[in-house]
Amino acid sequence: MSKLRFALVPLVFAVASSCAQADDAVEKAVDYRQGVMNVYAYNATSMGDMVKGKTKFDAAAFARYAKDLAAAAQLDVLAGFPEDSINDDSDASDTIWLDWVKFQDKHKALQEQSAKLADVASEGDESAMKEQFGKTAKTCKGCHDDFRN
Ligand code: HEC
Repeated sequence: MSKLRFALVPLVFAVASSCAQADDAVEKAVDYRQGVMNVYAYNATSMGDMVKGKTKFDAAAFARYAKDLAAAAQLDVLAGFPEDSINDDSDASDTIWLDWVKFQDKHKALQEQSAKLADVASEGDESAMKEQFGKTAKTCKGCHDDFRN
């Protein structure tokens, strides 16, 4: 009996420390993807404020935000969503891993629309910029509706 107990102690430690490592990995992934989302949000809300007239429309600044949003959309944010990586800080829905292909498509939609937005914005036509901004913002909502709690 006592032999068994001694054998179990290191096992319990090993299990506990591998859980801690898994927690670390989840925390890193959640931090990374939320960081990327916050980069999206900074640029998107800066443009959105101009579109809504909350701040003065500035075509050059808008074009910079659009370029940075498109660049951020090229980051591999999907790498920040390893299977079942949810913790208390996360609002990710577990449906992400049940419908990974759809989740990937939603990310692709953002990449495509934000690339178009950067193109349109470089031409400086205000109404075209506003229209394409709307299409880009829809891709954020399109993913959040299905995959964020
Ligand atoms: C492919 C799906 C997808 C797309 C596209 C997407 N998001 Fe997200 N977003 C998520 C998920 C999932 C979460 C929750 C992540 C978590 O908390 O683990 C999230 C969280 C966020 C958060 C909260 C971050 C935090 O600190 O908790 C913000 C802000 C955000 N998204 C903004 C945006 C904006 C702006 C866009 C579009 C420019 C966008 N997202 C596009 C899936 C997406």
